[in-house]
Amino acid sequence: MEPKTPPDARQSDTTRHPTRRDLLKLAAAAGAAGTLLAAGCGTDDAAVAPDAGASGGTGGAGGAGGAGGGAAPDAGPDAALTDDLPRPEYTGEPGPEGLYRHGVASGDPLPDAVILWTRLSELSGEAEVEVFWEISVRPDFLVRIAVGTVVASSARDFTVKVDATGLPAGTSLYYRFHALGRTSPVGRTRTAPPADAVVERLRLALTSCASIGHGYYHTFRELSTQPDLDAVVHVGDYIYEYENGRYGDARETEPRHECVTLTDYRTRYAQHRADAWCQAAHRQHPFICVWDDHESCNGAWRDGAENHDEAVSGPWADRKAAAMQAWHEWLPVREQADGRIFRGFAFGDLVDLSMLDTRLWGRDRQNGDAVDDPERTLLGRDQEAWLSARLIGATARWRLIGQQVMMGHLRFRASENLPLGVLNFDQWDGYAPARQRLFDVITDNGLKNVVVLSGDIHSSWANELTPDPNDPAVYDPATGAGAVAVEFVGTSITSPGLAALQPALLDRVRAANPHVRWVDISKRGWLALDITPARVQGTWMHFERIREENPSQVPYVGGVWAVRDGVPRLVEEAEPAAPRADAPPLAG
Ligand SMILES: [Fe+2]
Repeated sequence: MEPKTPPDARQSDTTRHPTRRDLLKLAAAAGAAGTLLAAGCGTDDAAVAPDAGASGGTGGAGGAGGAGGGAAPDAGPDAALTDDLPRPEYTGEPGPEGLYRHGVASGDPLPDAVILWTRLSELSGEAEVEVFWEISVRPDFLVRIAVGTVVASSARDFTVKVDATGLPAGTSLYYRFHALGRTSPVGRTRTAPPADAVVERLRLALTSCASIGHGYYHTFRELSTQPDLDAVVHVGDYIYEYENGRYGDARETEPRHECVTLTDYRTRYAQHRADAWCQAAHRQHPFICVWDDHESCNGAWRDGAENHDEAVSGPWADRKAAAMQAWHEWLPVREQADGRIFRGFAFGDLVDLSMLDTRLWGRDRQNGDAVDDPERTLLGRDQEAWLSARLIGATARWRLIGQQVMMGHLRFRASENLPLGVLNFDQWDGYAPARQRLFDVITDNGLKNVVVLSGDIHSSWANELTPDPNDPAVYDPATGAGAVAVEFVGTSITSPGLAALQPALLDRVRAANPHVRWVDISKRGWLALDITPARVQGTWMHFERIREENPSQVPYVGGVWAVRDGVPRLVEEAEPAAPRADAPPLAG
């Protein structure tokens, strides 16, 4: 497809939720905080209490409203505050200028809650530092709807995570932190619509795979400029564990050695979050993240990894625990008691989203000789059961599954005389009976509108999912008959794709995989998902040169494919969805 001018692929308003409109109108009027708070409390299921609850994730003072004592007349830039909520109080020496140099972030949006994140940088020792947070419906914070305190400490690398609850649903919100006399940049986030809301449109970004050695995060830069995203779905390889120079040479890694210990992983995350464009994307949108293998180690599975040698790097269990801890510290995810990361989200009556862990929870070891072994699992039996229950119980129009490795078959015939073989044992092809069990859940229960969102393979794919794409009795590529779901595979942010495939080889891959409706193997970028009751449209946005730090580079439309309500068939569309005109302003 010829490159086109990048679209302004934004959506129209999503949520029919009068409470939100009332709230925003009142906020715009700004003057009567009491009225605003009354509106937030009185008309939402999720009441906005003056000290709306926060559960601090750092094990510190998670309670709300603990730092403040009413409005002070000399409150500086906050002097015009018109609410009665507590304000930050600090009278000591100011903290380091770079206190917030890793920015702010948010994630895991629910109708009444969202995770807020920051880090107090350039601190050391055993000090415990109180952090005051506040949320407003306005970017100028003249009217706040929730405040609280949490404690930062070295136990969690001075990262701070707040699960702010009691928030208005389907609403764009602004937040910031105060600590040691310094105020963080303002972040912008958005809660999910109410469970019973009629949602007409939703816009998500799908992204994955940011190798710092392969260039610059133009995708994150681009996402940070788009006001109408409801959330960013990140399906893993947020970092890569490799030592400097082993995987790309465009930028150097910190630390320079391979990540093995907790300190190593923390340092690598800190490097990524010091990246201005990565930080900018987090600042503007809530992220929904799961890990893939490189947050721990290449080729990871439940009890080991291809790139882990115990004789060199020590016990896998220790490395895995360190990697999981650093990920939880540095990413704005809602933490679960047993470390599991598979979890669900709902966006009114439009989308039910299940996020999976195909890596560390239950995956059996990759084994090319056992791809048909029905005992092997990619998810673990308990996660399989959890996913089945969610898919069957979902009442939303679309059942989205966010996960790491490509689910569609990827077969290859090494020569004309040989049978089709599996190209990559690490993806669902290597666990064929487990994939079929999922397909059986879909067909046995008559489930419609299942859409799988994947990453890992560093290239762009639009796949129809069928039990056997090469059996004419099962699947007809001309009509899509026999498909049970569809899959959008987003390309990487920087990590290298399959460009080394010779054109002739690619032609043979295409011929062996008729369910692959479209593929681009060479471009980096992201996938925009514009979702309405009528269709899910995926638009692959591609960049030409990610090795260059040229901020004027704009992406172009690589491909536009959609699935329509009720029919698991991918159709090419001429243009991305039109932009949404009334998206709330970005954080300034
Ligand atoms: Fe990757």
